[in-house]
Amino acid sequence: MRFETKAVRAGYQIDPVTGAIVPPVHQGATFAQEEPGAHKGYPYGRTANPTRALLERAIAELEGGRYGLAFASGLAAEDAIVHLLKPGDHVLCCDDVYGGTYRLFEQVRRHYGLEFSYFDTTSTEIKLQKNTKLIWLESPTNPLLKIADIAAIARQKRDALLVVDNTFATPYLQRPLELGADIIVHSSTKYLSGHGDVIGGLIVTSNAEIYEKLKFLQNAIGAVPGPMDCWLVLRGLKTLALRMRAHSENAQAIAEFLSAHPKVERVYYPGLATHPGHEIAKRQMHGLYSGMLSFELKGDVKKFVQSTKLFTLAENLGTVDSLTTHPATMTHASIPPEERARRGIRENLVRLSVGIEHLQDLIEDLQQALEYA
Ligand SMILES: Cc1ncc(COP(=O)(O)O)c(C=O)c1O
Repeated sequence: MRFETKAVRAGYQIDPVTGAIVPPVHQGATFAQEEPGAHKGYPYGRTANPTRALLERAIAELEGGRYGLAFASGLAAEDAIVHLLKPGDHVLCCDDVYGGTYRLFEQVRRHYGLEFSYFDTTSTEIKLQKNTKLIWLESPTNPLLKIADIAAIARQKRDALLVVDNTFATPYLQRPLELGADIIVHSSTKYLSGHGDVIGGLIVTSNAEIYEKLKFLQNAIGAVPGPMDCWLVLRGLKTLALRMRAHSENAQAIAEFLSAHPKVERVYYPGLATHPGHEIAKRQMHGLYSGMLSFELKGDVKKFVQSTKLFTLAENLGTVDSLTTHPATMTHASIPPEERARRGIRENLVRLSVGIEHLQDLIEDLQQALEYA
């Protein structure tokens, strides 16, 4: 089956008892046992839930992996992966990561004796330490849309596990397991659910041993999503292909519009031929580049973000409606200012999550807001 077909059907077959085409939301906290320990695979709602199991199967199928696991948020999924490590282990992470990932590493997990260091995401050569157990990649990155060459890095990973945060690309545009990654992590809050009505996280792997460890951690730590949230992500997946195409087409046109605008200093979008990672993105993302872009403004950022009428100023992305964010004071505020500056996240950087509204309406909105900036 091709992706679009899988996305509509993944994880579910028509219910043999009722004929239901849409899966039910199994809202129950627990399940009856015939005798102690004899149950249908669902001993307790934190350990397993039928609606959650459908979502876990669906995302594994779409990513081309064997196993999926669902969590209460993207960060809860990330933290479960970090729990695979022990004190003294080292994580080599790309330098342009989501601010919350950086905060988890630096302000939470460093205190537990883990080591973290950062390398330029665009570098195709990495230097592993003896104790490097995880390599952490985001591609495209948040907020500078840097592109990592996942296959090139996978070839150098030795016995370290390669984790790829596939939130921006989604499996419709990029499938990291096929490029050599061991674990995929998602904030399903974003494109996978797509409508801005869920907080969630997902993990996919084909490695049975890693899966068993993560499944143990999912239950032992307990940061699991509710059944209704799982159902909403499942529903979102059905239209993922359509939405990603529309997001990408709108973002490409907006990136080109902004590149030609006198009030814009620089545009970051992998679909632009001038973007440093464009050639890698072209092959790695199958010729579509998602709906995220950032740009540096020659003007007043505050006035700009307050003047858009369709783009809403908010901390989220990947939803059908268009959003603006000011990374320096919002999504990446937890990175110290000097470290932010070193990473190239300037005060005049604006991030756009381009939605699926009519392109011309979006361009007119940006046009009028740029006049106020
Ligand atoms: C790339 C990326 N990964 C992970 C996360 C964290 O996900 P959540 O907000 O669902 O915890 C985010 C959130 O913005 C993100 O942008």
